[in-house]
Amino acid sequence: MRTMASVCFMVFMLVFVQNVFGNICTKNENSLTCDECIRCGGEWCRERKLPTSHCVFTSGDGWCPAEREYLPAAGDKSTKGIEVNPVSAERTLHVGKKNKLDIQYTSKTKEKPKMLILQSTQSFNIEFDIDEPECAGTMCVATVSATPTQDFCNVTGGVSEYVEVSINVGLAEEVKVKYYVVCACPCSGKAEIRSPVCNGNGNYSCGICICEPGWTGASCEKPICDETKRGDVVQCSLNPRNDEDCNGNGYCGICETCVCYTDREGSQYFDQDNNCAGLCTITNGDYEDCLVNSNGTSGMCFNSHPNPLIMQRYNVSLTNERDYEDKKVWVKCNETFDGCGMLEYFAKRDERGIYVMMVNLCNEIHNEAIVADTKVPIILGVLGIVAAVAAVSGVMLWKHLNTVPPVPLNDPQYQNIDAEDCTGENPLYKPPTSSFKNPTYGKW
Ligand SMILES: *[C@@H]1O[C@H](CO)[C@@H](O)[C@H](O)[C@H]1NC(C)=O
Ligand SMILES: *[C@@H]1O[C@H](CO)[C@@H](O)[C@H](O)[C@H]1NC(C)=O
Ligand SMILES: *[C@@H]1O[C@H](CO)[C@@H](O)[C@H](O)[C@H]1NC(C)=O
Ligand SMILES: *[C@@H]1O[C@H](CO)[C@@H](O)[C@H](O)[C@H]1NC(C)=O
Ligand SMILES: *[C@@H]1O[C@H](CO)[C@@H](O)[C@H](O)[C@H]1NC(C)=O
Repeated sequence: MRTMASVCFMVFMLVFVQNVFGNICTKNENSLTCDECIRCGGEWCRERKLPTSHCVFTSGDGWCPAEREYLPAAGDKSTKGIEVNPVSAERTLHVGKKNKLDIQYTSKTKEKPKMLILQSTQSFNIEFDIDEPECAGTMCVATVSATPTQDFCNVTGGVSEYVEVSINVGLAEEVKVKYYVVCACPCSGKAEIRSPVCNGNGNYSCGICICEPGWTGASCEKPICDETKRGDVVQCSLNPRNDEDCNGNGYCGICETCVCYTDREGSQYFDQDNNCAGLCTITNGDYEDCLVNSNGTSGMCFNSHPNPLIMQRYNVSLTNERDYEDKKVWVKCNETFDGCGMLEYFAKRDERGIYVMMVNLCNEIHNEAIVADTKVPIILGVLGIVAAVAAVSGVMLWKHLNTVPPVPLNDPQYQNIDAEDCTGENPLYKPPTSSFKNPTYGKW
């Protein structure tokens, strides 16, 4: 068990180290930025129209003569001591490249120098090697080599990070060496933000465009369209641009998918996956029978749609409700349905479902006539009265009185209908199957 645990720990550590440091250096060198290239031990060319990679790990003599990124050298300062030379020094190191420094000192015992790292502004991932001293008499020379490894610099590293060491050669005098390590490109500090060179979609830096999220290409000219995320639907066409496909609730975005507005009434309900369809569109389409059959009371309306609609008694004061973003919670909808005229209602949606408050109802006679056989005699009674009223007022509404009953006069929808308008079809007596459209099985 113990060994298992330590193996797991090792694996975890390796993965961790890979993620923190290793990953970028194993990336394709074409996709490295200047800073990343330098941190991985490469060399950088700032030339804009470069046929090859800007980052190379072994550069030939002719490579990028004019615009090779200048990596500052600390000027290799050295100070001579009394018995040690140098007693202090500064050197510039580049990741992955070995630097050698000779230390001369007098030693009767031919002591091998010992090194102590005093401090580092980055990590301690730097390899030091000290050779056995070569001595002639009491004069010895030892070579100290220093190589920062690929994981020396961390991502926040700057142009001149450093590591300070002290080297003891068995004398009172100690050698102090300050190794500057280049962990970033000076040109990165001169980036052109949202440069026209990068179509305004990225920063121009060290001869390349560093694109904003969502853009790619050498000039950040190509949008990244994540088809797998968007359900591989082309919702609208960019050529020619067709914003109308977005239900008037959005515009056609760069990936030929609708980008829904967020600042409109009801925009919290716009359906990104469904061409920005608004809540009214969904309820009108998927819940027509619930709206048409509502008698205004509260309760669930189950229809063939997988999710029931929650009906709520109309309450005017609720319609002014606002959410935490100060958006109206209830959106006002209307739709004209066959045999009903225009229905008005308010709708809202939360994680439990869609709620509807009917402002007006479909013709009640129509409703009851089609939902309950037992009510037919009563309905006919009502219609009889209505027919009598119609006869008294002398209005002939229907040509075929013997087969179809007259339209009730109290229904505003039909008040102005006269004989000439009517072709014999009584809207009240459409068979239920034709006035109840199949709900669409859209997802929401
Ligand atoms: C990166 O360097 C800074 C100092 O410049 C240090 O504080 C930080 O801990 C380092 N991060 C990592 C992950 O090594
Ligand atoms: C471009 O530069 C700005 C300002 O420094 C920075 O906020 C932004 O993140 C940079 N964009 C990219 C893609 O690096
Ligand atoms: C309204 O309809 C529901 C079922 O849809 C029914 O239970 C209720 O009795 C009806 N109310 C009236 C007043 O007709
Ligand atoms: C209407 O809504 C308001 C606000 O939520 C509430 O105070 C009131 O009781 C409701 N009225 C009815 C009749 O349910
Ligand atoms: C019906 O709804 C549409 C769209 O929201 C709106 O433009 C229209 O004014 C509404 N009609 C009525 C009578 O409320």
